[in-house]
Amino acid sequence: MQAPTDIFDPTHYAATRRPLLEAETLPPWCYTSETFYRREVERIFRKVWNFVGHVSQVGEPGDYFALTFACVPVIILRDLAGTLRAFANTCRHRGSALLEGSGNCRAIVCPYHSWTYALDGALRAAPEMKETIGFDTADVGLIPLRLDTWGGFLFLCFDAEAPGLSHYLGDLPDRVAAYGLEDMVCARRKEFMIECNWKLFVENAKESYHIATVHRNTINKYASARSSGYWAEETLGEYVCTFAQHEGSMALLQNDPGFPANERLAGLREAGGTRAPLIYPSTYLACTIDCAWYLELHPLGPKRTRLIHGALFPKDRIARDDFEAKATNYYKRWDITIEEDIVASDRQQLGMAGPFVRPGRFSHREPLVHQIDNWVLDKVLV
Ligand code: FES
Ligand SMILES: [Fe+2]
Repeated sequence: MQAPTDIFDPTHYAATRRPLLEAETLPPWCYTSETFYRREVERIFRKVWNFVGHVSQVGEPGDYFALTFACVPVIILRDLAGTLRAFANTCRHRGSALLEGSGNCRAIVCPYHSWTYALDGALRAAPEMKETIGFDTADVGLIPLRLDTWGGFLFLCFDAEAPGLSHYLGDLPDRVAAYGLEDMVCARRKEFMIECNWKLFVENAKESYHIATVHRNTINKYASARSSGYWAEETLGEYVCTFAQHEGSMALLQNDPGFPANERLAGLREAGGTRAPLIYPSTYLACTIDCAWYLELHPLGPKRTRLIHGALFPKDRIARDDFEAKATNYYKRWDITIEEDIVASDRQQLGMAGPFVRPGRFSHREPLVHQIDNWVLDKVLV
């Protein structure tokens, strides 16, 4: 189905705007069009608070990592005084990228002509620049970007005007307060490259309809859509959330041994299930009885996305002698089911190619797909 030339005319999306059981899915070009994707980058990812990792990635003074997010090269670091900072990863001389990967440093030295920046962004040295007229090192520090944290997670915002992170998250911190996310440790971080539009993976993460098919031998054995409900909760803030009721941990395959349940949840509804917010636009977080995990998505193009899985356990679990042995069971569950979802999403992207694909209809089990798609339209059509 060819994208129309007036691709952002709201009339093309009227069917998706209808109530769930009368609505159609987004037009297929929303998942394939370069124009639609560029608009998402500009109106969504360059405007909102984006989840970009866990504070443990920059745990010590001098720790840094580089990433490209929404086509912007970025450095995230902890300076020598312990302050977390983000900068454009762009030298103020002639624009070279300064850092790549991750590591620890005392200063940032440009690999091109050795301009040297302190970790607070100030330019400390610029060789051979004495004769340059009106050149003042104080004018050419690294360009700072907004960085904030919540629950042990890093959030980056490119928009100087946007309200703060706590406004963005709304009542999410209260909703998941019982789990004690800020006291959890990220024990493993694993990256995947997926060949699909970021929205396909997000939609998959927030519907229970596919569990009976895609996860028939895994999650469906102990937390099927029918037995567990996956009820959508009412939220205030830029996220949606479900609660699924089930026995045991959502992070283990049936009968695999794990850690004791989080003591903080004793006596609470949370002790009998899993709460899973999707923080707009593209971060899935799941809090179950004994651990938590996140799926962080970085859009790389209309049909390409980086997926990062982070495994979070309460601090004292990591200290146990049996941690590695037991953690293997969790990693196995995540690796298997993530692969199941990647295969499903990549296959969906494949099916969206060509001129014959048409919008579909929703099941009653897909209310949040509809809600997420309408959130995207709210942002891109304005
Ligand atoms: S581009 Fe960085 S020092 Fe020249
Ligand atoms: Fe899934």
